[in-house]
Amino acid sequence: MINFIRQHLGAKLFFSYMVVMLVGAGVLGLATRFTIPEAFTRHMGSRPGTGLGMMQGLGTGSGMLPTLFSNFQASFNEALVLALLAAGMVAVVVSLLLSRGIVAPVRILTAASRRIADGQYGKRVLTAGTDELGQLAHSFNQMAEKLEQVELMRRELLGDVSHELRTPLTAIKGSMEGLIDGILPATPETYQQIHQEADRLARLVDDLQELSRVEAGNYPLDIRPVSVSTLVHTSIKRFAAQAQAKGMELRSDLPADLPLVLADQDRISQVLTNLVGNALQYTPEGGKVTILSIRHGDEIHISVVDTGIGIPTEHLQHLFTRFYRVDKSRSRQAGGGSGIGLTIARHLVEAHGGRIRAESGGEGQGSTFTFTLKIAG
Ligand SMILES: Nc1ncnc2c1ncn2[C@@H]1O[C@H](COP(=O)(O)OP(=O)(O)OP(=O)(O)O)[C@@H](O)[C@H]1O
Ligand SMILES: [Mg+2]
Repeated sequence: MINFIRQHLGAKLFFSYMVVMLVGAGVLGLATRFTIPEAFTRHMGSRPGTGLGMMQGLGTGSGMLPTLFSNFQASFNEALVLALLAAGMVAVVVSLLLSRGIVAPVRILTAASRRIADGQYGKRVLTAGTDELGQLAHSFNQMAEKLEQVELMRRELLGDVSHELRTPLTAIKGSMEGLIDGILPATPETYQQIHQEADRLARLVDDLQELSRVEAGNYPLDIRPVSVSTLVHTSIKRFAAQAQAKGMELRSDLPADLPLVLADQDRISQVLTNLVGNALQYTPEGGKVTILSIRHGDEIHISVVDTGIGIPTEHLQHLFTRFYRVDKSRSRQAGGGSGIGLTIARHLVEAHGGRIRAESGGEGQGSTFTFTLKIAG
């Protein structure tokens, strides 16, 4: 019995109502016991105790008042017991209904959370009222929605990743089969091609690992005042050979009085590497890539501007979504990006409290990628 009450909120509520009712009935009984003689005397115009003594002194004929009092008390007690019984029965029914009413939404929430535990994320609880239970149901629905989104993202990610892995694997498998069957000549070019695809696969796996780390925020950020010009010049040095090989001009245009910015040098270098790498990749030979920087209030805007193939307007807002590429076949031919670089860059910039955006006049009009950093001090 005690265990049953412990395990059921409805039973707890019901018994607490019962306890309140019993205490009320007890107090009522006691209160009437002490107040009735006084009230009776007042209403009859004499005190039953003194009247009794007085009436006993006066003889049997005048012993009516005490008898009247005890009769009154007996009938009052009888009426009180009956009234308490009736009130008790009504209270039991009302308590049952009330405790059920309170427990019902809790039961619905329990059932809904079980369904979510079973993987049915689409279920929602109908929210009624604005009390604590209503708020709980509301929070529950928000949680269910978040879980549903996470689950959807997980499925999409798995789909995307398997698709991305399949492409180079299919190419490697095809080439190997061609070699085995003697259809493909065993020339250095064939091996080179297979090596390239394997390389692509390795890069993709590295990128995915990096993406999962930045998406989870699972990396240390060593933020301190750094010089923008150091960051920019390091990047330019890193890409100088590549730009030269492609016959491209890579330079910076920075004002002399740029203040220091708050940044993790390695992470922001990674962002610049991704942006400059893209600019060189998506700009034809003989083009130009410039890194600009300008102060806006308490922020520094750093832009990588190229004279390359440009980006149609409708694609601009999707570029920072993982695996998004403007033209999948084109980007594959142009060196085989998988659409992760800008997503990593966005996460890193946002971890610094900054923003990143892309602009382009359209196809063939070049592109500009700009991110912001806070000024130090
Ligand atoms: N400077 C640019 N000019 C034109 N298009 C660009 C430029 N930078 C990015 N893009 C477009 O945005 C897409 C996403 O870029 P992102 O860097 O995320 O991926 P990626 O370069 O394809 O692959 P990777 O993950 O290897 O960087 C690219 O596929 C390309 O279509
Ligand atoms: Mg890229």
